[in-house]
Amino acid sequence: MGSSEVVLRAATADDHDQLWGLFATAMMFDSTSSDLDREIFEPERALVATDGDLLVGTAKALTRDLSVPGAVVAAAHVTGVGVRATHRRQGILSRLMSRQLREAPEALAVLWASEAAIYGRFGYAPAARNVSYEINLHRVRPHLVPRGADRVEELTGEDTAAQLAPLLRALQSRRPGVSGRSDLLWHKRLQDKPEDRGGATPRQILVHRDAAGAVDGYALWRGKMNWAVEGPANEVVLEELVAIDPTAYHALWHYVLTLDLAGKVQYGHAAVDEPLQQLVSNPAALVRRLGESLWIRLTDVSRALAQRRYASAVDVVLEVSDDVIEHNNGRFHLIGDSKSTTCERTEAAPDLTLSVSELSGTYLGGRSLAEFAATGRVTEHTPGALITTATALTWPVAPTSIEVF
Ligand SMILES: CC(C)(COP(=O)(O)OP(=O)(O)OC[C@H]1O[C@@H](n2cnc3c(N)ncnc32)[C@H](O)[C@@H]1OP(=O)(O)O)[C@@H](O)C(=O)NCCC(=O)NCCS
Repeated sequence: MGSSEVVLRAATADDHDQLWGLFATAMMFDSTSSDLDREIFEPERALVATDGDLLVGTAKALTRDLSVPGAVVAAAHVTGVGVRATHRRQGILSRLMSRQLREAPEALAVLWASEAAIYGRFGYAPAARNVSYEINLHRVRPHLVPRGADRVEELTGEDTAAQLAPLLRALQSRRPGVSGRSDLLWHKRLQDKPEDRGGATPRQILVHRDAAGAVDGYALWRGKMNWAVEGPANEVVLEELVAIDPTAYHALWHYVLTLDLAGKVQYGHAAVDEPLQQLVSNPAALVRRLGESLWIRLTDVSRALAQRRYASAVDVVLEVSDDVIEHNNGRFHLIGDSKSTTCERTEAAPDLTLSVSELSGTYLGGRSLAEFAATGRVTEHTPGALITTATALTWPVAPTSIEVF
């Protein structure tokens, strides 16, 4: 059956359970949705493909914000993408993606890609990397006992999210790539269903307090019992560590790295420039695996470029091409620095020619335009424009995402 008989439409709240089932089957995970998932679902932001009465494809977006260099902006958080196996390779995803991108009210879309080969064709590009740490505690120990080590405590009680949320917002003002969370999403993040623990302990929530008693850092972790021939070798799974103060950062890591009976710490969301490297005895022994995290796609080039800030002054005319979103084609005059930015359509001669993918991949400041120029994807018409623009697009703090959505 060809995809011409397949119809796209916006979802309704009643589609939720079927969409969830379709996505779970496509991703091959066993999960039933909860009332909370139904509340988080934004039907008006989900597209479905139907073949007669059968739902055969879906792509959802969540309304969230994202930190970018120098700002926090609205970004369509794309998720739940799947096509029924009987209907694949007939262009359904292409139709869903094109429509979703054209209709997005935000100036950019962001996603995690389970399969890296899929999204480049739609103008998405990997824009942030994440580092997975596996820390052997017999080789890697903290240098010193930090000053605030005695101000780490466990947090229990009802208002946990309210205490942690301001710290995530503060992190957004410091590091690009961090997604904001509504109350519902905080609720989801802190859910701790026994069936999701994979044999690990219930989640422990640690906080660090400053000298006045205010919470200035938190860590979410679990332990998993393990015995090696030579003795206890428990695993610590660090899910999230957010600290807005150096003492809190140091103290929370110290706690995690010195837990009794533990042989290993796993942490999947470290940044490329994770400061932990400075705090341990043997950074070379941190086993680090580099992966892609966020893929970015600018849906409105001039608005997106005006929304972020730049590491150094830039004044450049960019000639942009975009196969999917017509209004992104053309020339844009970008003037910006670390404090303000404008980006207007122009007829002036271009300094650089490139496509929306290169602008998307460099948008969070974690990749250089020079990398794309090296494979011919950026053409420099004005000598010096590449280096000036590439420098301005970088950012001193590497982008990282601390959750998969
Ligand atoms: C990935 C998926 C959504 C693609 O849906 P689809 O309707 O088959 O995709 P399309 O027919 O529109 O394919 C568009 C293009 O992408 C390519 N493509 C599709 N899925 C691909 C995959 N998994 N790997 C590599 N290329 C893929 C197609 O070959 C096609 O290429 P072409 O334009 O050169 O002809 C679907 O295969 C699926 O549900 N997979 C399992 C779930 C999943 O991976 N979801 C993504 C989570 S991030």
